[in-house]
Amino acid sequence: MSWNRRHVLSLADFSPAEYDTVLQTASSFREVLTRRTKKVPTLQGQVVANLFFEPSTRTRSSFELAAKRLSADTLNFAASTSSLTKGETILDTAKTYLAMGTDMMVIRHKEAGVPQAIADEMDRLNVKVGVLNAGDGQHEHPSQALLDLFTICSLINVEKPRSALLTGKKVAIVGDILHSRVARSNIWSLTASGAEVHLAAPPTLLPKAFAAFVKDSNPEISRQLFIHWTLEPALIDADFVMTLRLQKERMTSHLLPSLREYHQQFGITRDRLKLCKPGVRVLHPGPVNRGVEISSDLMDDPVLSLISQQVTSGVAVRMALLYLMGGGKVG
Ligand code: NCD
Repeated sequence: MSWNRRHVLSLADFSPAEYDTVLQTASSFREVLTRRTKKVPTLQGQVVANLFFEPSTRTRSSFELAAKRLSADTLNFAASTSSLTKGETILDTAKTYLAMGTDMMVIRHKEAGVPQAIADEMDRLNVKVGVLNAGDGQHEHPSQALLDLFTICSLINVEKPRSALLTGKKVAIVGDILHSRVARSNIWSLTASGAEVHLAAPPTLLPKAFAAFVKDSNPEISRQLFIHWTLEPALIDADFVMTLRLQKERMTSHLLPSLREYHQQFGITRDRLKLCKPGVRVLHPGPVNRGVEISSDLMDDPVLSLISQQVTSGVAVRMALLYLMGGGKVG
């Protein structure tokens, strides 16, 4: 077990020991969430600010609930009703929250690198404020990949979820990979855990340059990362299928002929899952375009779909991250 991070900005340099620390800590918080009083005093008196400069339902609410379950005071900020509309800069917004005594900032922004810039500023000011990246542009979404890892590992061993359980497992990630920070963070966590990761998308949503870039930035994962421009090879014998939302708001134009055609070629359906291993499970980070990336009935299937479990896992995993960043004891 190991942890010495003040900030969680990316999973690119996470070690297996750090993944296990998050998984085990989340596991003990999952137990707290089954009690009658689902709350612990761990972060009493501390302030967690949720600075979401981009829309979000589940991630923002999940962080808010996680902070509240740890007894922290929470501040919520929504860009559209903030002083940003009066021309305040993002760094000045962060410093305003700092001046109120914020201990941790959870940040989402449509531009990659904003959480890092705020973390750098906090370090420069030497104020010991932790910054957590809740999704920055097309870069990373570490807490989502960690909750995905926790969901998958818990399915394999609910008592002792740990990253080595994924050794040799095949995980297909299907969909709008080009625009997906979720896919990027998952590539790091899944390959570090020993899984084989198969990416599948049309070439416009999975350019050759993307694969080359990922492999160049970490040559060690080359043997575990596979690229497919058709769906079948990714699905054959897969243990888990991770579908991604088609990010229409980020698709400038002409990347797809039509949503119907996309569903025909890359949509995940019960029938297509027959190519996978028996016992396969499907994940989706949400929000879902029903009937586009995944068929509506499959999404609602209580056995095959892990989508609700992912949301539930999210609270325990985010409690673990806030606890660890706040200096909580490990192990
Ligand atoms: C994702 C996000 O916003 O990055 N959703 C989430 O956080 N659960 C994925 C998406 O928007 O498609």
